[in-house]
Amino acid sequence: ASRRFFVGGNWKMNGSKDTLGELITTLNTASLNEETEVVCGAPSIYLDYARSNLDPKIGVAAQNCYKVAKGAFTGEISPAMIKDCGVDWVILGHSERRHVFGEDDELIGQKVAHALESDLGVIACIGEKLEEREAGTTEEVVFEQTRVIADNVSDWSKVVLAYEPVWAIGTGKTATPEQAQEVHEKLRAWMRENISEDVADSVRIIYGGSVTGGNCKELAAQADVDGFLVGGASLKPEFIDIINARE
Ligand code: G3H
Repeated sequence: ASRRFFVGGNWKMNGSKDTLGELITTLNTASLNEETEVVCGAPSIYLDYARSNLDPKIGVAAQNCYKVAKGAFTGEISPAMIKDCGVDWVILGHSERRHVFGEDDELIGQKVAHALESDLGVIACIGEKLEEREAGTTEEVVFEQTRVIADNVSDWSKVVLAYEPVWAIGTGKTATPEQAQEVHEKLRAWMRENISEDVADSVRIIYGGSVTGGNCKELAAQADVDGFLVGGASLKPEFIDIINARE
């Protein structure tokens, strides 16, 4: 399968116009593998700034959005507003949204449906917690999270699935290439069984959780690892090495 390598940066709630401006200049002037699709997830207040300043070949993503187009939802942003800023992607179901802000599968599913209806690309995140992995329920957890997402998707060409084991996020404890490959392979098999052969072959499944310049190459060499969602390292020049993980 020829799946285009996808590297997302998730800046989370970090940076300022000054420091992000510097990062943007670094990205704009770096030599990036043209085969790789690159998308940077900016804080909502900087979406416009990021889109206006990043080279057009680099995509921008919102880190979250609400499930309807407009209305009395103080503090929220809609896919329509994201599109209006020229931004084409949104990250949904990130582990911090699930576990710090209490978003459940149902809400995430509704957000996925509305974002896709609004013509945004969706980076849909799933992943087990440490206690779930230790209890041997990793598959059960990620299949169920994927099922809820799948129930809300009709056009899979607009979706990237991000597998991010919660125990690997921001901890420096990266999944081994074997651990990542094992789950990605099972997710693809689940999709083959429950969605279609075509979708299973074409959907990018990317890995997130303490990806660095040092460990990205080995991870990128795995057959079912189609890219990364990078937190901490996406704020550093090292992000360029991660973008170029595949020669
Ligand atoms: O969305 C990105 C993930 O949460 C990974 O974050 O690379 O800082 O571990 P991290």
